[in-house]
Amino acid sequence: MYNPFIFRAYKTKELFCDREKELASLLANCLSGADTTLVAQRRIGKTGLIHRLFDEIRTQKLPIIPIYVDIFATRSLEDFVKTLSEAIMTAIPEKSSIGRKFSKFIRSIRPIITYNPLTSAPQLQLTIQSEEENRQTLQSLLTFLDSQDEKILLAIDEFQQIREYPEANVEALLRTIIQQLNNVTFLYCGSKRHMMLDIFSGERNPFYRSTEFLTLHKLDAEVYARFIERHFKEAGLEIDQKSIDYILQWTRVHTYFTQRLCHTVFNMAHKRVDVSLIKQAAIQILQSDSIIFGQYQQLLTAAQWNFLIAVAKEGEVSQVTSRQFLHKHHLGNPSSVNRIVTALIEKNILDDRIEEGKNIYSLNDVFLSRWLEEKY
Ligand SMILES: Nc1ncnc2c1ncn2[C@@H]1O[C@H](COP(=O)(O)OP(=O)(O)OP(=O)(O)O)[C@@H](O)[C@H]1O
Ligand SMILES: [Mg+2]
Repeated sequence: MYNPFIFRAYKTKELFCDREKELASLLANCLSGADTTLVAQRRIGKTGLIHRLFDEIRTQKLPIIPIYVDIFATRSLEDFVKTLSEAIMTAIPEKSSIGRKFSKFIRSIRPIITYNPLTSAPQLQLTIQSEEENRQTLQSLLTFLDSQDEKILLAIDEFQQIREYPEANVEALLRTIIQQLNNVTFLYCGSKRHMMLDIFSGERNPFYRSTEFLTLHKLDAEVYARFIERHFKEAGLEIDQKSIDYILQWTRVHTYFTQRLCHTVFNMAHKRVDVSLIKQAAIQILQSDSIIFGQYQQLLTAAQWNFLIAVAKEGEVSQVTSRQFLHKHHLGNPSSVNRIVTALIEKNILDDRIEEGKNIYSLNDVFLSRWLEEKY
């Protein structure tokens, strides 16, 4: 049976809650040609919003060609060039005039094009190129896009991955090429917030202040509550305010976790949803994810694990080195806790955000947080 609460790829506007303001800013930026960096905590809905934006561009028939490229799996400049070419081929219809020009252009750099037998997505095998050739191919690809009649929006997801490439100065190279373009607008997004901020706001870095920042916060709890209510009701299921509040409180209004809990509750529900059903769903989720939590533990030191338990017990902590917090949870001295915090942020397990001038620490994985809170 269909389930309106999705927690994987974007489907439709109807199954996507709100983000109207952010969507409007992104649309305004791509129409005016301003590049944007989308930053947020993990799994808040950055990638979803990009697809929501693309959907809107297509629905409104705006004169923009949106291209999405996820570079998470790329390991080198060569991979980047290849992944970008594939993304362009996927986005531009082969038979359109740009499509034909692009195929011709791609053939000129001598790749072999095959089609994935399962998804029929195009796959390129570029004949092995030297680093210099890769740089030139990148330049030609982007210049090609720039020379089209229509405006192009190029959304690069997991952008921080460029920092892992072995080639020198990839950031500088990209920035130099991008600076020369007039017709391509960029939307950069990534799941490692610290690295993204460093790339775009680190004074010494090539992309320093080259984009506008758009920060994605948690969805408005009231708006999310109405979204949840509507989707249960439309499927003929009753849900009261108390149950909705329970869901949002347990998942801390964090998108992915809320979607997943609602998804499970929806599958378990018959006529009515009540708090006891939600608790059952929550237990089921924690049991199924406990394998992953066990793996986290393997990757961490005992001190790091204990620190996570302490933060989980508090839910959120603002002063991680306060005497009171250290003492209450037997965490040792401030300098070792600072090291733990740095390591856990680096591993993307701990999140630190600034709210009203204060640093707030919480676990990125709300389910892990709930599990630790229960278990210890
Ligand atoms: N506004 C929304 N309404 C409903 N579902 C949403 C919304 N935003 C995101 N989602 C869903 O929540 C899940 C997580 O969102 P998404 O993958 O976009 O997050 P992300 O910020 O890109 O995560 P990561 O940091 O891991 O890259 C996805 O399944 C997505 O479909
Ligand atoms: Mg994402």
